[in-house]
Amino acid sequence: MNTTVIYPGTFDPITNGHIDLVHRASKLFDRVIVAIAINPSKAPTFSLEERVTLAEQTLAGLNNVEVCGFEGLLIDVAKQKDANVILRGLRAVSDFEHEFQLAGMNRKMNPEIETLFLTPAEQYTYISSSLVREIASLGGDVSEFVAPCVMAALKAKLV
Ligand code: COA
Repeated sequence: MNTTVIYPGTFDPITNGHIDLVHRASKLFDRVIVAIAINPSKAPTFSLEERVTLAEQTLAGLNNVEVCGFEGLLIDVAKQKDANVILRGLRAVSDFEHEFQLAGMNRKMNPEIETLFLTPAEQYTYISSSLVREIASLGGDVSEFVAPCVMAALKAKLV
């Protein structure tokens, strides 16, 4: 069976924690689609185009991974892309409640699509895009948390 997984998020910006999860997924699935939500409710720092470009640059070495931006319902994009699995990361117990709700709603809307959770490597369990942005904007070192191109983009945007 040909399996395609869709990994949605805001990715504002993509971090090493996200990248860790994509690497894991690329070994488990034939095709991985990193789907970047426009997500106006989060008022992202980077435009959708910038977030897509940064994800493409950081994931360029992975042949079965593609990146796309999307607007609208995740389950609709999943269907368009022929993805039968939604991937989400669980970093800590605190992620669980929100993820449980999202998975339940998505299942209600399309019972054919399963949500699967993976955990990132231990050193990435406390990373979040907003913390990375905050540290970068205050002149802190984020080199352990993001790829060099993301670090440069954060510097250009926030410092
Ligand atoms: N490494 C590092 N950070 C991680 C991570 C990992 N492995 N996994 C999650 N995070 C962080 C993110 O950086 C983000 O941090 P932030 O809040 O500081 O920005 C946070 O955890 C979770 O955000 P994200 O993964 O971007 O998810 P989200 O909750 O912003 O996005 C969507 C949720 C986009 C999947 C959801 O809103 C969606 O599906 N939207 C489309 C519309 C839709 O279908 N709505 C109905 C849903 S039922």
